[in-house]
Amino acid sequence: MRGDDRLSRMVWTSLFAVALTAACASEDGAADGGGSGEGGADSGSSGGGMDRDGEEVYMLLCASCHGADAQGTMLAYELRHPVRPYATWVVRNGRTGNELAPSVMAAYPSSVVSDVELERVFDFLDAFPRADGGEALYLDHCRNCHGIDAAGGEVEKDIRPNPFHDALEKVRQGEGGSGYGARLLFMPALDAAALSDDELQQIVDFIGTL
Ligand code: HEC
Ligand code: HEC
Repeated sequence: MRGDDRLSRMVWTSLFAVALTAACASEDGAADGGGSGEGGADSGSSGGGMDRDGEEVYMLLCASCHGADAQGTMLAYELRHPVRPYATWVVRNGRTGNELAPSVMAAYPSSVVSDVELERVFDFLDAFPRADGGEALYLDHCRNCHGIDAAGGEVEKDIRPNPFHDALEKVRQGEGGSGYGARLLFMPALDAAALSDDELQQIVDFIGTL
């Protein structure tokens, strides 16, 4: 029965390790305590617990594909200023990859990135400077779906022929409600705070040059 003995010792040792990790994690939590968002940023950084700050989680789990500056890499695309419910859906469900972003993105359950941490990742992504000029605005808000040349992209919708007022109506209303997974049907609505009329005009002007 030696085998059993060894097995049970291994089990107890690993249970102890788990308990220790949990204790460390909750200490991290306590140290950050009450910090609602930005506060606990630095103190939790050693942990790997569930109270990490947004930049830390982003650099650890997302930057390898989306880039440290969130401007995209060969593997995946730009992520600045995310539309949160949609972005949350993608993170929780994963993505298969496509032409512009040729890698598979795993689904990240809340046991890996908690809801609070995910909001902090989005806060981190929102803190990048506002895009400036039609090309940068197009990259930030439209290119992932409509493609580099606005001729279709992942959603197979050529938006080059659209005059400003049609684009404005579409951008303000969006499409597809909360059907975030429907590639050919979902477009997020952006209000004037996310993208002003003037900024959209710059995008339309830029599309006109493509
Ligand atoms: C292995 C590479 C990889 C990693 C790591 C990764 N992603 Fe992605 N991500 C992708 C790819 C590829 C796509 C696009 C795939 C597609 O459209 O089918 C994507 C798409 C997204 C989108 C949708 C963006 C849009 O404009 O449609 C969001 C949001 C996102 N990722 C967030 C994250 C976050 C947050 C993390 C870290 C927790 C992360 N990703 C980690 C590869 C990755
Ligand atoms: C998450 C993906 C996604 C993003 C981001 C996105 N779109 Fe769309 N867009 C779509 C889809 C899908 C459709 C087709 C929906 C429909 O009308 O059936 C569409 C349709 C359109 C149309 C209508 C085209 C037509 O002929 O009916 C316009 C104009 C448009 N988008 C402009 C934009 C602009 C401008 C941006 C950036 C500010 C943008 N979209 C961002 C997915 C997206």
